[in-house]
Amino acid sequence: MLKEIFEQPRSILDSMRGRLVAETSHLVMASVIEFENKFKNADRIIIVACGTSWHAGLVAEYLIEEFARVPVEVEYASEFRYRNPIIKEGDIVIAISQSGETADTLAAIELAKSKGAMIFGVCNVVGSSIARATDAGAYTHAGPEIGVASTKAFTAQVTVLTLLAMMIAEKRGTIETSMLRQLMMEMEQIPAKVERALQLDTEIKVISEIFKDAANFLYLGRGFNFPVALEGALKLKEISYIHAEGYPAAEMKHGPIALIDANMPVVVIATKDSSYEKIVSNIQEVKARKGRIIAIVTEGDTVIPEMAEFVIEVPDTHEALTPLLSVIPLQLLSYHIAVMRGCNVDQPRNLAKSVTVE
Ligand code: G6P
Repeated sequence: MLKEIFEQPRSILDSMRGRLVAETSHLVMASVIEFENKFKNADRIIIVACGTSWHAGLVAEYLIEEFARVPVEVEYASEFRYRNPIIKEGDIVIAISQSGETADTLAAIELAKSKGAMIFGVCNVVGSSIARATDAGAYTHAGPEIGVASTKAFTAQVTVLTLLAMMIAEKRGTIETSMLRQLMMEMEQIPAKVERALQLDTEIKVISEIFKDAANFLYLGRGFNFPVALEGALKLKEISYIHAEGYPAAEMKHGPIALIDANMPVVVIATKDSSYEKIVSNIQEVKARKGRIIAIVTEGDTVIPEMAEFVIEVPDTHEALTPLLSVIPLQLLSYHIAVMRGCNVDQPRNLAKSVTVE
């Protein structure tokens, strides 16, 4: 798992290679061009996935709605297939799967296909069942992922989905050229910034030692970082067996706030973005109840270090791209805590890398 976490600058780059060159404004995804009219005219996009891939789908929802202005629904494949979903011709279903073999996702695709939707796959394994069942798609180029807890596949998925959102926006004419260029330039810098985020490893190990015996963890985020909070919590529970919940920070007051006391570590993703002021007040709410705050902030933040017990700084980027950076310390935190607790991080109990049964 650690090896795969550290491969991310490379796997993100590989997932962009040939598709994005900011200098020449080159943004190409062959299958989007092939189905250009479908993407231009789609009334809505439905994303189906499971586990970590579902979290990548949630990030994509924020990206596609923000830039391409198409309504997006993100569905757990297992729920989608067992209700009577309303799908019509002209809908696009994006199926996200690292392995390309997840039974529920495959069944959701078959269902959507039978109702006339166009299916676009985002898979890591070339030639997998899901890759073959889709009408079009874009591979993530993360390379083989062996650790059961997905890390580099997640960031590769988010990378491809970001490019996809940018392309759909461009085709639909919903994004300013200057904004598109800015995003492309920021995107190109992501691998180097992930490399910098990985240098936080030693610092995170120290924090992990302090919290390794916690019974519970709460993860909070807003906007683009809400799915990252879910993913951070999932990573921790998968490999360390600590109970962890991810929540949209503002939703905390409707329940989880009751759990906060001096024994509750609260990981808050509070990078400088449009919800920054709001999340600062969420941090104050946690602090007032003596929760132990570990904040993921943007480099140079001077406000949150005054409030949080621990602060982890990630490089600055466009707010839409922060998930690719903010998830890195969360992966490392889970990894170190799990190792310190003597857990088998690569093969956690009861979990399978590829779930081919329903
Ligand atoms: C399993 C794995 C997870 C993964 C999920 C979906 O539960 O343990 O890491 O996120 O399946 O897998 P997929 O291959 O479809 O992305």
